Amino acid sequence: MASLGRLYSMFDDVVLPEDIPYAQMSDWEQKFLYLVARHHVNGTGALVELGSGGGGSTYAIAKGLRENPAFDEKKGRLHAYDFFRVGKGTFATQRFFKAGKAPEGGNSFREDFEAALAPFMGFVEVHAGDIWNTSDPQDKSPIEFLHIDIAKTARVFRCVAERFLPRLEPGAVVLHQDFASPRLPWLHHSTGALLPYIEIAGAPIRSTLVFEVVRPIPAELLERIAKDEYTVDERLALISAVQDEVDLDHTGRVPFKQVLELAKAYVCHYEGDHRRAWRIAEPLLKDPYLSETRADHFAQLRRALGEDAAPAPAPSRVRRLLRRVTGR
Ligand SMILES: C[S@@+](CC[C@H](N)C(=O)[O-])C[C@H]1O[C@@H](n2cnc3c(N)ncnc32)[C@H](O)[C@@H]1O
Repeated sequence: MASLGRLYSMFDDVVLPEDIPYAQMSDWEQKFLYLVARHHVNGTGALVELGSGGGGSTYAIAKGLRENPAFDEKKGRLHAYDFFRVGKGTFATQRFFKAGKAPEGGNSFREDFEAALAPFMGFVEVHAGDIWNTSDPQDKSPIEFLHIDIAKTARVFRCVAERFLPRLEPGAVVLHQDFASPRLPWLHHSTGALLPYIEIAGAPIRSTLVFEVVRPIPAELLERIAKDEYTVDERLALISAVQDEVDLDHTGRVPFKQVLELAKAYVCHYEGDHRRAWRIAEPLLKDPYLSETRADHFAQLRRALGEDAAPAPAPSRVRRLLRRVTGR
């Protein structure tokens, strides 16, 4: 089994087909998924992808598994979880349809996903729908490969933390997509809490942080993560601990220390402490990467601060009249 660190020297060996399905991630990340599936997986546990979308990431994993001599297609399964449909609150894009948009009156891209993954459907198992409904709370079977590209809300992250993280044992590998998104700080502080039990593979690959579990993770810690039983200060300290472990991503594009600093601002923002959020965010305006790629984040944080400071709207005439009558 290749150590995860060794996979970084193998990018040039990977050739993915030109017509691989559209993916909401970089080629680098697709290639790393392939490399982990090809060289790291050894068939000892479940293989799980949370947030398969149109199959661009699933395809890379499935191709790696097919070329991995340790993977037995007759027995092994790659579990693919997704809504497999577009619509409000799904975080799925119309680009997951083969045609690039949903057909008249249709919202499911499951058929397109299965057609794109046809060469591998013998070992890909689709779990279509809200992950809270499609995952089994009783399933405690060990997971050896976990790609997380679904935790776009705290509600969904809770499901991941409750039902999937407890199934990780030493040797398991986790790939956290969207780790470069400051709006998802639960990815960052939960990783901080796991640090004593994991080894980060190396520099993040664009937006993906990869780690291996190296020690059993205590059940109480996992419960604390799932219930998010941390104060704001504790969450900020956990993110700082991750900042100590990461810097520029492997391709030299994403400055993770700064990205995670902005994630701290979002911890405060979600708690309604907009002043503290802005105090953290404002100095980051000077960072060229963040000011170029996250202008909308700064605008959101500044707007929230402005809304806090704005005077309460003047009472309407009707309300003034009511007040006079009721005395309230
Ligand atoms: C960023 S996309 C995944 C992209 C995909 N991995 C790729 O490489 O193109 C996130 C996916 O998470 C799915 N998703 C978000 N919340 C979900 C939930 N509660 N249950 C099931 N799927 C969910 C969306 O349908 C969406 O396809």
